[in-house]
Amino acid sequence: MHLQNVRVLGPTGLSLPTTVEINAAGAVERDASGLILSPGWLDLHAHLRDPGFPQKETLQSGATSAAFGGFTHVVAMANTRPVTDRPAPLRALMARAVDLPIRVSFVAAVTMGLEGRTLTDAAALRRAGAVALSDDGRHLMDKATLRRALRAAAEAGMPLLIHAQIERLGNGPESEAAAVEEALEALQAVPGARLHIQHVSTRAGVDLIRTGKRHALRVTAEATPHHLALTAADVLALGPHGRVNPPLRSVDDRDALREALAEGVIDAIATDHAPHDADAKAAGANGFHGFETALAVVMDLGLDDRVLYRACVERPREIIGQSIDDEWILIDPTAEWIVDGGSFKSRGKNTPFAGRRVRGRIVMTTCRSQIVMERVMQHA
Ligand code: DOR
Repeated sequence: MHLQNVRVLGPTGLSLPTTVEINAAGAVERDASGLILSPGWLDLHAHLRDPGFPQKETLQSGATSAAFGGFTHVVAMANTRPVTDRPAPLRALMARAVDLPIRVSFVAAVTMGLEGRTLTDAAALRRAGAVALSDDGRHLMDKATLRRALRAAAEAGMPLLIHAQIERLGNGPESEAAAVEEALEALQAVPGARLHIQHVSTRAGVDLIRTGKRHALRVTAEATPHHLALTAADVLALGPHGRVNPPLRSVDDRDALREALAEGVIDAIATDHAPHDADAKAAGANGFHGFETALAVVMDLGLDDRVLYRACVERPREIIGQSIDDEWILIDPTAEWIVDGGSFKSRGKNTPFAGRRVRGRIVMTTCRSQIVMERVMQHA
C-alpha cells in the first residue's frame, strides 16, 4: 500500500510528511495527510485470561481488542487457569496464537502454580516458546528462590519479570520498594541474569532502578498508562472501578514515573490489560481494561516523539528479544472521542477513563502483511 503525506514515527522522532510503501495485502493508495505511521506497538504486559476465564477475555477477543488499540504484538501473562507452568499447555496456546489477528507471545510462570516455592522448568518452557518468566499477579518467592529463578531464566536465555510487591507487606509504596531492593540484590548475585520490573508505580521504586542501572545492573522496567496518567485522587472518584494492583499512587509518584520515562530509567510502557467481568469487578477484583485506551492516554502525556518510539516500539521488543516484522499502525493524533467501555472489542468493559474525552485514535492496524483492523473516521 502507498501512504501519501504521512509522518512516520521512528527512532529519531517524527518525519516530515512523505510517501511510504508498506507491505499490506489488498490495499492500494491512500492519502494519509495528518496521520502518523508507526511500527505496531508491543505490549509487554497483558492478561488474556485464556484458558480459564472466558467471561473476562479469550485469546481471540483480547487480540482483536489489542489490534484496535494499536498493538500488533502482546505478551500474555501466566495467571490463567491452569497457570502456564508446563510446556504442553504452553505449546497448545502457541498453536492457537497462529490464527490470531496480531502476534501473541507468552510468558510462563516462574514457580509452579505461582506459589513461590517450586521452580518451573525454564529450559523446557523456553523450548516450548516462552519469551520470559513471570509470576505476575503474585510475588511469593523468598530471596533464595528469587536467585535460583534468575539463574534458571538466564541459563534458558530469558529475562525474569517480577511483580514487585512483598505480599505480606500489603501493596503500599514501601512494599514495592522492598521488593525492588530485594530483586536488585539477587540480580547482583547472579551474573548474566536479566531482571525486568513490571508496573513500577512509586518514586522509591524508580530511584532504586535508576541506581541499579548506574551500577550497570541488567535491569529494565515498565510503567502503565494508568500509573503515568492517574493518581489516588482519581480512585476516590471511581470507587471499586478504580481498583488495580499496584494501586494508583500520589502525584509525586506519578511525576517520578514521567521523569523516569523521559530519562529512560523506565524503558517501556505496558498496559497491564486486566479485563474482568462486571460481577468480579463489583466484588472488588483488581485491574481494568488497558488496550483500547492506551494510545490516547499515552499521547496525552506529551512525550518527546523519540521517547514514545523507545517506550512503545523499541524497548519492549529488545526486552523480550523480538523484532518488528511488517506490522504497522496508522494513528490519527487529532481524532477526539469519548471513552465508553461498552464499545470495546474486549470482554473487559471496565475502565478508569470512562466518560473522558480523549484525543488520538487508531485508524488502521496491519500485521503479518494483512490489514487486521480499519476504522472509518468521522471528521467533524
Ligand atoms: O490489577 C491487577 N490485575 N494487578 C495484577 O497484578 C493482576 C491483574 C489481574 O490478573 O487481574
